[in-house]
Amino acid sequence: MAKSKIKFICANCGFESLKWLGKCPSCDEWNSFSEELVEERKASVKKSAHAKEVKTLDSITELSEERIKFGINEFDRVLGGGIIHGSAVLIGGDPGIGKSTLVLQALAKLKEKVLYVTGEESLRQIKLRAKRLNITSTNILLLAETDLDLISATIKDVEPAIVVIDSIQTVYLPDLDNAPGTVTQIRECTNFIMQFAKKTGFSALIIGHVTKEGVIAGPKILEHIVDTVLQFEGERNHSYRILRATKNRFGSTNEIGIFEMHEDGLEEVKNPSEIFLSERDENVNGSVVTSSIEGTRPVLLEVQALVTPSNFGNPQRVATGFDYRRLSILLAVLEKRANLRISAHNVFLNMAGGIRIEEPAVDLAVCCSIASSYLNKPAKTEMLIIGEVGLGGEIRSVSHIEKRIQEAEKLGFSSVVLPKNNLKSIKQNNKIELIPVDSIIKAINIVI
Ligand SMILES: Nc1ncnc2c1ncn2[C@@H]1O[C@H](COP(=O)(O)OP(=O)(O)OP(=O)(O)O)[C@@H](O)[C@H]1O
Ligand SMILES: [Mg+2]
Repeated sequence: MAKSKIKFICANCGFESLKWLGKCPSCDEWNSFSEELVEERKASVKKSAHAKEVKTLDSITELSEERIKFGINEFDRVLGGGIIHGSAVLIGGDPGIGKSTLVLQALAKLKEKVLYVTGEESLRQIKLRAKRLNITSTNILLLAETDLDLISATIKDVEPAIVVIDSIQTVYLPDLDNAPGTVTQIRECTNFIMQFAKKTGFSALIIGHVTKEGVIAGPKILEHIVDTVLQFEGERNHSYRILRATKNRFGSTNEIGIFEMHEDGLEEVKNPSEIFLSERDENVNGSVVTSSIEGTRPVLLEVQALVTPSNFGNPQRVATGFDYRRLSILLAVLEKRANLRISAHNVFLNMAGGIRIEEPAVDLAVCCSIASSYLNKPAKTEMLIIGEVGLGGEIRSVSHIEKRIQEAEKLGFSSVVLPKNNLKSIKQNNKIELIPVDSIIKAINIVI
């Protein structure tokens, strides 16, 4: 017999504890534990269980990889070319970022029957949104329900190709005693939908909220369960939204789709480089252009730095869209290897356009923009800067160099500053001038 036990579970990461804790030892979140009933099973083989037949890998006939394409390029590409039959996709994002809008727009062009289950909004509110987005599809069926038993019965009856659950925090399994939105409910509901989708063959799009307070569980604990996790992000005061795949069992991760939010919905941004560079003022100190590979695409973007003398003891360092610790390392390298005395200066760094960059290939551009602002000299325009900076001040090679060069050529840049070691991996002839560098000092002398 399964035994019930009370446990305290962190709503943020799913860490379990026997007593209440103020701060989660696993994810450092404060006040995130809530009391939940957990059923425990002993790890022994039941008498009634019997062995099942196993198969060899080569005896299994593979299914053709069938995908449903939504007809929105940016969305399809992030999914790896469409959604696979019977798979579950989790779309996470901050409140109000546009998750429901994205999903509704994605459904609009489909020929297949889809079921949109809403637990948050009324059918009228959905209709209002559809009207604003000019969606007139007759294939979208709506259901306002939160009881998962009733929802699954409806799915059986309607037999849709795609089911949207908006959102996972609102639905519940009536068999469980826990309230909707608790960790156990969310985990079990996702598990249930996942199994049901595999069995019935529909694809599930599950929307999940991320809350910083950890009152409702964020999609962190669900990431292991579902096939694909998409993160919809953007700065509140920018109209750009980025859809990022952080996990994909059927496609590459780190692929991004870029959208712009308008009154009539999200519009695909087909050439992100042009947008990220469109507001660039070329003669300003501290502005340089670099290239980052987002998924499979090169995106050119502007790095801006502002270096000002600090009148107080502790100089400030602020990085937007860039890792703060990485900035500290690069500042130390600049100080020691390029002899720039930045330690008594405030440094503000910004990746223009609200994009977040994790790639080390932008290191050199960050260093050059800081040096340009510090020295009060604008960097050469029409020059693209690529390279990873090592602790010795050396410039290390980066991946996908040819793609980056091509994108720079396409957008009319006349030269590319790149790591010397990358030269041998370039096979094609480029019209653009290539300037190889091997140390940070040489790079700064060339760029500024
Ligand atoms: N009339 C409008 N004009 C312009 N933008 C709008 C308009 N109405 C809504 N929006 C945009 O749509 C966003 C809300 O979209 P949506 O409801 O899809 O977000 P959501 O992520 O599903 O939110 P929630 O977390 O509440 O479910 C708003 O933040 C705003 O940017
Ligand atoms: Mg919504």
